[in-house]
Order: sequence, then structure tokens, then C-alpha cells
Amino acid sequence: MLTFTILALTFVILGHADALPSKKHNSTSCDLSHARLKVPANQTQLIAPTSAPRFIGIGVGTQNYTCNATKSTYALIGAVAELFDSSCLYGSPAFESASTTAYDVWTATTGVTIQEVINTMGRDPTVLGQHYYVPNPKGSGLSPKWDFTSSGATAGNPNAYVIGVKIGDLPSSDSNDIDDLMIKAVKGELASKVFRVETSGGQPPTQCAAGDSNITIKYTAQYWFF
Ligand SMILES: *[C@@H]1O[C@H](CO)[C@@H](O)[C@H](O)[C@H]1NC(C)=O
Ligand SMILES: *[C@@H]1O[C@H](CO)[C@@H](O)[C@H](O)[C@H]1NC(C)=O
Ligand SMILES: *[C@@H]1O[C@H](CO)[C@@H](O)[C@H](O)[C@H]1NC(C)=O
Ligand SMILES: *[C@@H]1O[C@H](CO)[C@@H](O)[C@H](O)[C@H]1NC(C)=O
Ligand SMILES: *[C@@H]1O[C@H](CO)[C@@H](O)[C@H](O)[C@H]1NC(C)=O
Repeated sequence: MLTFTILALTFVILGHADALPSKKHNSTSCDLSHARLKVPANQTQLIAPTSAPRFIGIGVGTQNYTCNATKSTYALIGAVAELFDSSCLYGSPAFESASTTAYDVWTATTGVTIQEVINTMGRDPTVLGQHYYVPNPKGSGLSPKWDFTSSGATAGNPNAYVIGVKIGDLPSSDSNDIDDLMIKAVKGELASKVFRVETSGGQPPTQCAAGDSNITIKYTAQYWFF
């Protein structure tokens, strides 16, 4: 009887989930065949591909740090971000400023959620996927991952992710902003290269002391996937 009740309840819950409106997939995804990444002149860290990207997203999230008491500086222990599609902004002035605009909303209020930030970005942007850290598949420590397996047009594709390793690092002109990066894929089929550019925020305080709590620092960035 108990088993039956649990089964019946499961059916009710599953049935309800099925009845939810289906997620819009590529409602705001636009053609990127003319998009080209521009990188600063006179540097060798970031090399722009000559081809078009597969995706351009704006990441909204946090960079997480712990205090290394030996060095009295914060060390990165991961990041968590939600990426929304900015392909339809490409070519407009709003594209260049989207990361900064999102950052201003993200940092204006303490209680604001990432989804609320995304909702202010106009044209009902699609969520492309999530960014977070996982154990390095080819070594030790943690590696960044971009996971599009459960969002947007790639939802349901188990290979729509990329785990990468940094191969280029260009400090930002503003010391509050995390570096621009060029990342090479080590696993996954989402992209062979990822670029993090147009960063806002994310840098920890310059010093810390033993016993300081772990901290999360809000940031936004543009991510290009090739
Ligand atoms: C959106 O998805 C539909 C159905 O999968 C597809 O036919 C269409 O080409 C897609 N549009 C864009 C702009 O990717
Ligand atoms: C790059 O370097 C060249 C040669 O030093 C210089 O003429 C040029 O102005 C530099 N460009 C930028 C954007 O800094
Ligand atoms: C702190 O920094 C020192 C010096 O660079 C390094 O040897 C050590 O592994 C770091 N500690 C942690 C917990 O990362
Ligand atoms: C990073 O911080 C976020 C909160 O913004 C938290 O959800 C996440 O678990 C943290 N991840 C790590 C690896 O510290
Ligand atoms: C802070 O982060 C370090 C490294 O990820 C972790 O080992 C430690 O448990 C965290 N401390 C707290 C209080 O969450």
C-alpha cells in the first residue's frame, strides 16, 4: 500500500513536471557567421581565431577565493556563473557594453539573483549554460568547465560541454577586473577554444590574513566559444 502510494505520488510529480511549459530553446539565438573576436594589439597572450565563433555568451556569477596564509593573498578556488546568449546583440553598441551593463545590475543590489540580472538584458536572452570548476581530468587540481548540456539549443546533448586549460592570460587595464584569457579544450565537444574577454569585477582584495573566510566576488565577462 505504501509502495503504491509512493508510486502514485511519483506519477503525480512527474506528470506535473511534464505539464510545465516547454523551455524556449533558441528564441534569441542569431547568426554569428560574420562575428570575429578582436583582441588588443601588441600582445602575444590572446590570438584571435580567423573563423566565426559557435557561441558568444555573457557570464554572470562569482569568482571564489580562499586565503593563502603563507602568501597573505587570495587564491582562486573556483567560479560559478550562468551564461546567457548575446549573439543577437552582436554588431550593436549594446554588445560591447553588455558585460558592463550586466555587472552594474549584478552589483547594484545585494539580493539580486543571476536570473534577475539576465532578465534585464532585453530580448529575453536564452541561457546557454553554466560555468563552474571540476577536478582536472588530465592532472591535479581544478579545471574550468562550461556546460551547455541542459540549456538552450544544446540541451540533451551529453557532449555539449568543454573543460579547458588556460594557454593565454592578459591582465585587464582596470585592476578590479579579472584577466582576459585564452583557453584550450582538454575534454568535451562544445568548443576547441574559449576566450574570456570584456571582464568586469571578480578580483579579490590584494591582501588577506590567516583565518579570513573564503570569499565570492561578483563578476561578468564575455565568453567566445570556437
Ligand atoms: C532554432 O531552432 C529551430 C528548431 O531546432 C531551427 O530550425 C532553427 O534553424 C533555429 N534557429 C536558429 C537561429 O538557430
Ligand atoms: C603597437 O606597436 C607598434 C610598434 O611599437 C606601435 O607603432 C603601435 O602604435 C602599437 N599599437 C598599439 C595599439 O599600441
Ligand atoms: C600558498 O602559497 C605557497 C607559496 O606560493 C604555496 O607553496 C602553497 O602551496 C600555497 N598554499 C595553498 C593552500 O595553496
Ligand atoms: C562559489 O561560490 C558560489 C556562490 O556564489 C557557490 O554557490 C559555489 O559553491 C562556490 N564554489 C566553490 C568551488 O567554492
Ligand atoms: C575554503 O576553501 C577551501 C579550499 O577550497 C576549503 O578547503 C575550505 O573548506 C573552505 N572553507 C570554508 C570555511 O568553507
